[in-house]
Amino acid sequence: MKIFKLVVPCHFGLEAVVKREIYDLGYEITKVEDGKITFEGDAEAICRANIFLRGAERVLLQVGRFKATTFEELFNQIYALPWEEFIPKDGKFWVKKATSVKSKLFSASDIQSIVKKAMVKRLGEYYDESWFEETGAEYPVRISILKDEFIVSLDTSGEALHKRGYRVMTSKAPIRETMAASLIMLTPWKKDRILIDPFCGSGTFPIEAAMIAANIAPGLNREFTAEKWTNFIPKKLWYETVQEAEDMVDTDIEVDIQGYDIDPDVIKAARSNAQRAGVDHLIHFQQRDVADLRHPKKYGFVITNPPYGERISEKEELPALYKTIGEVFKKLDCWSEFVITSYEDTERYIGRRADKKRKIYNGMIKANFYQFMGPKPPRRNREKQI
Ligand SMILES: C[S@@+](CC[C@H](N)C(=O)[O-])C[C@H]1O[C@@H](n2cnc3c(N)ncnc32)[C@H](O)[C@@H]1O
Repeated sequence: MKIFKLVVPCHFGLEAVVKREIYDLGYEITKVEDGKITFEGDAEAICRANIFLRGAERVLLQVGRFKATTFEELFNQIYALPWEEFIPKDGKFWVKKATSVKSKLFSASDIQSIVKKAMVKRLGEYYDESWFEETGAEYPVRISILKDEFIVSLDTSGEALHKRGYRVMTSKAPIRETMAASLIMLTPWKKDRILIDPFCGSGTFPIEAAMIAANIAPGLNREFTAEKWTNFIPKKLWYETVQEAEDMVDTDIEVDIQGYDIDPDVIKAARSNAQRAGVDHLIHFQQRDVADLRHPKKYGFVITNPPYGERISEKEELPALYKTIGEVFKKLDCWSEFVITSYEDTERYIGRRADKKRKIYNGMIKANFYQFMGPKPPRRNREKQI
C-alpha cells in the first residue's frame, strides 16, 4: 500500500481544528504550518479527507518539496520528481496555480511554463513520447513557494472544498462554509445545546451546525478531481467512503438550531440552501431584527457573523448595532456568545471584554473571533435543555 504525503490548506488561525479532524480520521500528522497541515495516508485517505474534513480548503497530494532560487534549479528539481507514478500517458497536466511569498522566483507565468516543460521532459522520456494528446483525466498541479521553498502538489479536490454544493443562494457577505464549520468546532457547542445565529444571511452557520449534528459529511454531495484518477485510486475506494459517510448520517435527531436575519430575501435563500443540504427540518429560520432576539431557556449558544462595515454607509451604523448586540446578549441568561467580525470596536460597543479572542484571516481580511463564555449547565440539566 502506497503512502502519500497529503497537504491540507486551511484558514489561518484555524489549523488546530483541522489538525484535530485529521487526527480523528485516524491519520498521522507530520507537519503543522501557518495555513496548512501535512499528514500521511494511503489512496483511501485521499477519498476520506475530501469527503469528511469540514475545515479543509482542499486536499493536495504532495509530489515534491524542495528549495530553488533559479529557473534552472526549478527545472531540474521538477524533472527529478516521479510524475509517472501519478500521471498516465493520456493525462492532462498543467500548473493551475502558483503562489510565491518572499521568494526569488515569483513570476507565476514563468514558473508555470518551466514546470510544464520539465514535466513534459520527464513523462516524455518515461512514456517514450515527444507529444502528449492529453485527452484523459485532469491532473492540475499547484505550486506554493514560501521563502524559496517549493511545495509541488497535485490538486485532488478540484473546486475548493468550501463549495459543498448546497449554497446556491448567498447573502452579500457570506462566510465560507469551511470557516463557519471550523469556528463552530472551535466552540464547546454540541448538538444537545441551543444554537442561534441572529445574522444568519444565507444560513451558513445554522446549516453547518445542523450538518455536524446530523453527522452529514460535507463532501457527500459533490465531485472531486481525483475521482477520475483510476490509475492509482480505485473507484471502489470512493464508493466505500461514500458508503461509510452515508452509514453515519442520522437526521432523525432533536436539535434547537435557529437562524434569523433582518432581510426577508436572505431568509428565503437560507431556507432553500438548508433544503439542498438536507437539514431544513432541523433549523428554524425567520426574519427578525437582532434587537428582538430572546430565548427563555438558559445555556444556549450564539455563533454569528454580524455586519462589519463592508460598505462605508454601513460603518456609521456599527456602533449602534453592536450596542444592541451587547444589550441582547445581556438578556440571554447563562448563554455563551461567539462573534466573528473585523470591526475593531466590537468589545467597546458590545460593552464587555471577550474571555478569549482569536485572530482569524478570512481571505485577506483580518478578523477576530470574540468568545464570551457562559457557565456550563449543571450536569443533571444537560439533557433537558432542548
Ligand atoms: C456578514 S452578513 C452574514 C453572512 C452569513 N454568515 C452568511 O454566511 O451568509 C450580515 C447579515 O446581517 C444582516 N443584518 C444587518 N442588520 C441586521 C439586524 N439589525 N438584525 C438582523 N440581521 C441584520 C444582514 O442582512 C446580513 O445578512
